[in-house]
Parts: sequence; C-alpha cells; structure tokens
Amino acid sequence: MDNFVTIFEMSPRDGLQNEKKFISTNDKVKFIDKLSLCGFKKIETSSFVSSRWVPQLADASEVFIKIKRNKNIKYTALTPNEIGLHNAIKSKVDEIAIFAAASETFSQKNINCDIKTSLLRFKPLVVEALKKKIPVRGYISCVSHCPYEDTVDPKKVAQIAKQLIEMGCYEISLGDTTGKGSPDQTIKILNECLTFTTPDKLAGHFHDTFKNALNNIRVCLDHGIRTFDSSVGGLGGCPYSPGSKGNVATEKVNELLLSLGYETKLNTKRINECAEIALKLKMDGTYDWG
Ligand code: HMG
Ligand code: MG
Repeated sequence: MDNFVTIFEMSPRDGLQNEKKFISTNDKVKFIDKLSLCGFKKIETSSFVSSRWVPQLADASEVFIKIKRNKNIKYTALTPNEIGLHNAIKSKVDEIAIFAAASETFSQKNINCDIKTSLLRFKPLVVEALKKKIPVRGYISCVSHCPYEDTVDPKKVAQIAKQLIEMGCYEISLGDTTGKGSPDQTIKILNECLTFTTPDKLAGHFHDTFKNALNNIRVCLDHGIRTFDSSVGGLGGCPYSPGSKGNVATEKVNELLLSLGYETKLNTKRINECAEIALKLKMDGTYDWG
C-alpha cells in the first residue's frame, strides 16, 4: 500500500468557509453529493464553529442531515470546542478535527485563545469523542509562516504535533496556511516531526498562494507522507489569514500523483466536473444544476 495516496477533499469546508457570498444549503448538499461520486474516502463537509466567526458554514447541521451518505466515505467536520462536538455528534459526523496553530497571533485571531489554552480545551473534547468511537484528526495552522508574525520555528510545530498525538489524534495535518512554505522549510518541519512519530501519522495541507504546494507535496512523498488535503478547483482559504488563497487543487494533486506512479483510486473525469462546479460557485455564488 506504500504506493497508495489518500486525497482528503477539503472543498466543502476549507473552500466554502472563505467565500464572500453565502452558498445556499441546497447548493452545498448537491456539491457534496457530486463529490461523493469521485472516489474520495474522506470529505471535510463543514465546521461546527461559531456562526459569528464563520457565517458561511452556519448550516453545518442541515448539510449533514441532507447529504446522501456513501458508506465508504467518512464525512468529517471541524469542532473547536464542546458545543461544536455536541452538535457534530447530533449530526452523526463520522470524524472530527480539532485545530491548533503554531503561531500565537493566528491562534488568537482564529479561535480567540492562546496555543496553550487551545490545547487544554481540546483535551476533554478528544476524550469524549474517542469514548464515542469518533476518530479525531489534529490540524496545525501556520506551520511555515504566520500572516501576522512571519517565519515559524519547525521545533514549535513539532512540539504541538507531539501533544496532539499524545492527546489521541490519529493524524496531524500540517497546514501551510499562507502558502509561503518552501520545500526546504517543509523538510525541516518533517524532520522535526519524524523524530517522535512516523510518516503515516502526518498529512500535508498546502494552500497554493505562491504555487509552492506541488513541490511541497513532492518532498512530503519523499519522506513517506501518503495523505494530502486539497480542494477541487483550488477553492478556499482561511478567513483569518488575509490574502491566502485556496488549498492546492485536487485535480492538480491527482495528476501529479498519477504521473509519479502513485495510486489514488479517484475518478479524474468526475473530479474535473466538480472543479468546474466549484469555480462556478466561487464566481456566481450558485450553480445551475439543470
Ligand atoms: P469565542 O467568541 O471566544 O467563544 O469564540 P465563546 O465560547 O465565548 O462563545 C461565544 C458565542 O459563540 C456564544 O454564543 C457561544 O454559544 C457561541 P452567545 O452566548 O454569545 O450567543 N459558540 C458556538 N456556537 C456554535 N458552535 C460552536 C460555538 N462555540 C461558541 N462551536 C470559537 C471561540 C472557537 C467558538 C470561535 O473563535 C470560532 O468559532 N472560531 C472558528 C474559526 C474558524 O473556523 N476558522 C477557520 C477554520 S481553521 C482553518 O481554516 C485552517 C485549516 O484549514 C488549516 C490551515 O489551512 O492552516 C484547518
Ligand atoms: Mg486550510
């Protein structure tokens, strides 16, 4: 299985959270149902966050109720606190994610607390989720650069990753939020993390603002990483990282992986169709489903 790479589709969450116009629940549900036909094993479907902070995803519960679930797909969501976890459980989310940052200012701007407090808050959440047999993924934002502070120390990233793994996260997604991370910086982060964990516990989450993402993915592959987050059409960004563009496009990641001889088991034609829908949603705020 060393040749198989998992692409974790982010567009309904990381993509739509950043759109200026509110995408209707109906459009979101139809879009996710189309994504469910592409062969993904995981789709980040929404976020159970405060609607004052991310109004674009205020309909998370309704979206989870209305999508047509494929039993081979895990439909996941972000949960920043216990309110989020309880709403996620009510909505029968298959997997949750907690999200920390490697930069203090970003942590404050994104989740309104410092890094230490965020980790303390996540602990009981992870315990409760795991008791209910809900797997927990951990994100770390700003692993290379912070939009407010500049370059981030790879040792700091590794310290947080270690704490999230010890807490019970099955995987840590390393987020290059600004897209400024160079392959050299990525290698330093991976080497720090690989002093205490194995590549199967790490994933790459690259925003493609400066077109570094595919080169970063290449160095991750060389270090044994086999899970990457991406969004069809390169949709997205983070509302608390001004100027940052979307996740690297799923169709580009898939193309790169296939050209390098990796297997993804994704349907290329359907991914391209979803990329077109994503771009329409971005441009027009809606899609004509015919
Ligand atoms: P806060 O204002 O400090 O929270 O926000 P609070 O506990 O003081 O509560 C304030 C109000 O929000 C209360 O309502 C709560 O009930 C409500 P009121 O009594 O005033 O009416 N509330 C909630 N409502 C619904 N769901 C909840 C929830 N929690 C509180 N879960 C908080 C703290 C963490 C809630 C807030 O800062 C927040 O929601 N932040 C989320 C920001 C976000 O989603 N950012 C984007 C995702 S991260 C990302 O994109 C990066 C990533 O992709 C990786 C990368 O690229 O680097 C993952
Ligand atoms: Mg992101």
